Amino acid sequence: MSALHIEAQVAVIGAGAMGAGIAQVAAQAGHAVRLYDNRPGAAAQAIDGIARQLARLVDKGKLNPCERESTVARLQPAESLEALADAALVIEAIVEDLDIKQQLLRQLEALCAETCILASNTSSLSITRLAAGLARPERVIGMHFFNPAPLMALVEVVSGLATEPAVADTLYDTAKAWGKQPVHARSTPGFIVNRVARPFYAESLRLLQEGAADCASLDALLREAGGFRMGAFELTDLIGHDVNDAVTCSVFDAYYGDLRFQPSQVQKELVAAGRLGRKSGQGFYDYREGAERPQPAELRSSAEVTRCVVEGDLGVMQPLLQRLSASGVELTRRAGQGLLRIGDATLALSDGRLASQRARDDGLQNLVLIDLALDYSSATRIAITWARNTTIEARDQVVALLQRAGFNVSALADLPGLAVLRTVAMLANEAADAVLQGVASAADIDLAMCAGVNYPLGPLAWAERIGLAHTLHTLEHLQQAYGEERYRPSLLLRRTHAEGGRLHD
Ligand code: NAI
Repeated sequence: MSALHIEAQVAVIGAGAMGAGIAQVAAQAGHAVRLYDNRPGAAAQAIDGIARQLARLVDKGKLNPCERESTVARLQPAESLEALADAALVIEAIVEDLDIKQQLLRQLEALCAETCILASNTSSLSITRLAAGLARPERVIGMHFFNPAPLMALVEVVSGLATEPAVADTLYDTAKAWGKQPVHARSTPGFIVNRVARPFYAESLRLLQEGAADCASLDALLREAGGFRMGAFELTDLIGHDVNDAVTCSVFDAYYGDLRFQPSQVQKELVAAGRLGRKSGQGFYDYREGAERPQPAELRSSAEVTRCVVEGDLGVMQPLLQRLSASGVELTRRAGQGLLRIGDATLALSDGRLASQRARDDGLQNLVLIDLALDYSSATRIAITWARNTTIEARDQVVALLQRAGFNVSALADLPGLAVLRTVAMLANEAADAVLQGVASAADIDLAMCAGVNYPLGPLAWAERIGLAHTLHTLEHLQQAYGEERYRPSLLLRRTHAEGGRLHD
């Protein structure tokens, strides 16, 4: 274990939302912390704020009063940068501006010991670039906390081209000792989370733009079928569309306009209108007084369904069978290609083809496609779509079957990959490319997406659960359907599938 010694002094620069949170984390872990801000009085104010926050935790019985007292005693405002000269680790959380951060690092280098680690909490600037021109770039590293720092477990430990591996190891172990969940990442645009999460927003925005369904239905599907804490529209309303669009644009530009990261016109229009989300009172949803939250649209059927035929292995959908039989549906099994037959209807998991195209390609009558669920045994909602020549009666049979098993059923227009499958396939694709490009290990990427943005399952583990072949085919079909590079499958998915291996190996 190479964590910073508990006696080592930590300095935090910038007493805003992030700096104050980071100072609290380091002080609670037992370090003496100096907090500096170039706005007079800001550091002392932030420490008062932390003291009040900790007092609330004491009141709630979540912190013992002695711990609060000793934590607050370890926090000292610094009047000048010079007062930070004894620090073993400096973490800067000042304004997100390359020139200003570089200037600060030059000052710190002249001031602090040669062994002092200079860490930046930047979310979007290159660590390599921040360190360039310094005498000791090997000591410069990213320590990317998430907001609010005292609550969010994830810390991305970001190495630039010159960062010494031992420095990254020390910071990793230190973050762990502070009770955080660190991951290693190479300094590349968006690091892990801000890159791999792009498709989560992008695919919902695209589905909305192409008339798949309304926001409330798409959000409900990501939550209730996908197991995500929030759908993309409610989440971007919370983040702020200006902020979310700016991150997308910065990643898009940094990857030289790679269409995989293309910003959305739908979101741009909200920004242009000043509908920035909750903070402005309106975004995709209306937060003004008296406004009502729209409800997801649902299909209902009064058809009677008592039996269905299961043809072949349903793969990731297999747990659905237990649920159907528990709801009293009689199941008959026979060989086949992983389909359910309900009366005249055929029900199959989407593979990224349009329903109408698949019905024609595979000669399937009355085809209804079902979306991916995180867990078919407990999901409360599921999406379906159907081929143009599917009869209303056949569709109603499927709706009745799913209703009987306890699902709310939401209809989507016939778009490739439906909502959850397409989102997860694209998240896994981005994660795979990040592994391929050596940004981070598969395990760290999955961990980062669960600890940093609360995904219910790491995208790569999810791709394994769906099956690499099915994930890959979904992407291939999306790419064919749209004719766009955006959906090109990562070489790592292709290679791992061809080798019969696993992404986590
Ligand atoms: P903020 O605006 O709340 O706080 C920045 C603080 O730095 C202010 O108090 C300001 O007076 C001070 N400051 C500015 N220039 C300074 C200088 N040259 N020397 C000393 N103090 C200076 O900003 P926030 O949100 O805390 O962000 C800080 C950093 O953390 C940025 O690099 C940002 O990209 C990053 N970050 C922000 C997250 C967020 O959700 N807000 C999440 C993760 C990283």
